[in-house]
Amino acid sequence: MLRLEHPSKRYKTGDLALTNVSLEIPDGQLVALIGPSGAGKSTLIRCVNRLVEATEGKIHLGDREITALSTGDLRRARRRMGMIFQEYALVERLTVMENVLSGRLGYVNFW
Ligand SMILES: Nc1ncnc2c1ncn2[C@@H]1O[C@H](COP(=O)(O)OP(=O)(O)O)[C@@H](O)[C@H]1O
Ligand SMILES: [Mg+2]
Repeated sequence: MLRLEHPSKRYKTGDLALTNVSLEIPDGQLVALIGPSGAGKSTLIRCVNRLVEATEGKIHLGDREITALSTGDLRRARRRMGMIFQEYALVERLTVMENVLSGRLGYVNFW
C-alpha cells in the first residue's frame, strides 16, 4: 500500500506545488493521477521516489516510511520503483532493449 500523509511541497522559488494531499492506494490497484498542467502531479510522483523532497508530511510504501529512509535504504527502495519520465530520459543511440536493460545496471557486478 502507498500512503501519503499530508505531504506538502514548496519549491525554493516560493511555488507551493502540493498542499496537504493525503491519499492511500491499496496493493494491486491501478491509479491514474489526472489534472491540469501545473496542478502538482509530477511533484507528487517525485515526492514518492524522493527525486523531490517533500517540505512536510510523510510517505509510506508498505511498512516503510520512504520519507525517513537513509541514502542507502532509499537506493534499495528505488530499485523496486519504476518511473518513465515525461522527457523519456532515454539514450537515443541505444536500442529499446538496451535502454530497458540499463535499468538493471545497479545489479551487475563491476567486473
Ligand atoms: N523545480 C521546480 N522549481 C520551482 N517550481 C516548480 C518546479 N517544478 C514544478 N514547479 C511548480 O510547481 C507547480 C506544480 O508543477 P508540476 O508538479 O510540474 O505540475 P504538473 O506535473 O501537474 O504539471 C507549478 O506551479 C510549477 O511551476
Ligand atoms: Mg508533470
